Amino acid sequence: RGITLDYRYALPIVSEEELFSLEPFVEEVHRMIHHQTTYQPYLGWVDLPYTYDKEEFERIKYIAKKIQQDSDALIVIGIGGSYLGAKAALESLHHHFYNQLPPSRRKGPEIYFAGQHMSESYVKDLFDLLEGKDISVNVISKSGTTTEPAIAFRLFRTYMEKKYGKKEAAKRIYATTDRLKGALKALADEEGYETFVVPDNIGGRYSVLTPVGLLPIAVSGLDIDEMMKGAKAARTDLLHPRLHQNNAYQYAALRHLLYEKGKKIEMLVHYEPRLQSFSEWWKQLFGESEGKNGKGLFPASAKFSTDLHSIGQYIQEGPRHLFETVLHIQEIKEDIVVDKTATNTDGLDYLAGKSLSFINEKSFEGAVKAHQDGGVPNLVLHIPQLNEYFFGYLVYFFEKACAASSLLLGVHPFNQPGVEAYKQNMFSLLGKNNGN
Ligand code: PA5
Repeated sequence: RGITLDYRYALPIVSEEELFSLEPFVEEVHRMIHHQTTYQPYLGWVDLPYTYDKEEFERIKYIAKKIQQDSDALIVIGIGGSYLGAKAALESLHHHFYNQLPPSRRKGPEIYFAGQHMSESYVKDLFDLLEGKDISVNVISKSGTTTEPAIAFRLFRTYMEKKYGKKEAAKRIYATTDRLKGALKALADEEGYETFVVPDNIGGRYSVLTPVGLLPIAVSGLDIDEMMKGAKAARTDLLHPRLHQNNAYQYAALRHLLYEKGKKIEMLVHYEPRLQSFSEWWKQLFGESEGKNGKGLFPASAKFSTDLHSIGQYIQEGPRHLFETVLHIQEIKEDIVVDKTATNTDGLDYLAGKSLSFINEKSFEGAVKAHQDGGVPNLVLHIPQLNEYFFGYLVYFFEKACAASSLLLGVHPFNQPGVEAYKQNMFSLLGKNNGN
């Protein structure tokens, strides 16, 4: 019950011989992840499916129930790794119109995100939407000092305190942050907020299976036990040091080879609109991990068949500098079937009796083949079903592949020094530390 990697459609641009010639490098990378001390301070995610704090996990479930009972909406405040994982899970695994469903048809409250940009109109509209609703806030920041979520939280704190009074507001605010340090931790201690911990040895983009992602995911009614079970299975399946027996390493090695052959862009492709935020999570994971020292694949994404009618042209016939990685959901549903009409005026009777899932599957088969023929290699990840278990599995798969791939490239997979440059400019433009 795992995820399989199919690289048939990347041949012959890369050959199996070339792939398996990377074996010694991959073994070295495996050693760096599992047996070396250099990256030890960042490797908490490797054994997390076993070592996670079980007591805190139960507290997450308890608080999730409380929020379900006392709130019409949960506002999740965070940026980057502090919100993308939760958003990916909620969108991948829930009803497409989750927030619009009547409360009787969902286990959790409506869930909105804030603090992931500084758009004034967004915040204004969100306050507008929340009028008359009971809300809770989960503010998430590992460092506790990131500007965007800190501003959003200040605005929401004021909003909550005005609405509920300071004491009740404090009971509705949950802070996920460092165990000891940072402004958010200090504020949480001062105000008495319930807190959850972002483990020291797990960076933001590797933190979806910590309280960072798990609290909002549990609040929405998803089964976080199943999610951890999937991650645990992935950890076991992807523990092998040999390329032949490890799909995550094969994926890492293939993308490395493709990069070396001039394919500088990797496009994550899906056929399910609910995977859009998952693509955003994936882009951050790979982009922030690999884009360093003038190196790294550019992580892009596309949603098919929608984008086959826009950038599909570019993919088929533009510069041959990209490859695709397809998230292929294998489960075929039969819920919606094209009906037969008396006149066949629209010419669609050839599809009568076929389900939308089946037709979608054929568009996947057609596009993979066309793009391969057009010189765009495709890697296909077969995912049996979109559920909590495989979400946990897939997260772990990509985390391991990303660490391995970054190390093959020779860059530090867990830092992000380049993120500072814009901040310094913005701070000086805003007069930070000028006595304000
Ligand atoms: O992956 C990372 O470390 C970053 O993308 C962070 O998640 C992001 O910058 C938010 O940081 P913080 O949680 O400290 O507010």
